[in-house]
Amino acid sequence: MSSPGPLNAKRLAAARALDFIEPGMRLGLGTGSTAAEFVALLGQRVADGLRVVGIPTSERTAAQARAVGIPLATLEDQPELDLTVDGADEFDSRLRLIKGGGGALLREKIIAMASHRMIVIADESKAVAVLGRFPLPVEIDQFGVAVTVRQTREAAARAGCQGEIVLRESAGAPFVSDGGNFILDCHLGRIDAPEDLAARLVAIPGVVDHGLFLGIASTVISAGAGGITVLGRPGS
Ligand code: A5P
Repeated sequence: MSSPGPLNAKRLAAARALDFIEPGMRLGLGTGSTAAEFVALLGQRVADGLRVVGIPTSERTAAQARAVGIPLATLEDQPELDLTVDGADEFDSRLRLIKGGGGALLREKIIAMASHRMIVIADESKAVAVLGRFPLPVEIDQFGVAVTVRQTREAAARAGCQGEIVLRESAGAPFVSDGGNFILDCHLGRIDAPEDLAARLVAIPGVVDHGLFLGIASTVISAGAGGITVLGRPGS
């Protein structure tokens, strides 16, 4: 049997996550190509009569969810969620993540942490022994960027990391998140002490948040040549 390509693997992981959905759930809806597979499949279930409410982690996901007929709410209406299903740029064996490649990390973290449970769906290429191969996104205020870049570099060095720190651009201008912030991509190669780095980053005044999700995900569903692997808390 041939192994699934990355797109198919994303769909397989997304389909497995549907097993965790129960009627009446308040669901955080992630951002990115894997989360989009989940939103599409969830839309089909809603069309078949499943009753859930979605809280999207980005304007992009909100638009897709509306298009497929998933009823939406805000965190103001629903400050406590049952489950968030989202993708990741990297995950390790302790379910620590790097997220934010799509620029939605702040809303993704707010929504994941408002949820009783976060399930990550990914193709197996996202599994790493050590986080950091994927550039770590750090969402920053637009004010004082040069200072925040310098302080981010110093924080990384104190946490034992080095590498280029780049202001993310889109069409020749700084990329602006849904929340109106800039993003730094930190090319660190390896992050041996993610908890230490995370603590140092949040102490920088210009840093709004960072893409290290530590102790947040309870389950990772990954799909690839070997089939589907469920790490962490199993069950539905
Ligand atoms: C969006 O900001 C990210 O956190 C995504 O969840 C992450 O980049 C994974 O995206 P893909 O599923 O497209 O790889």
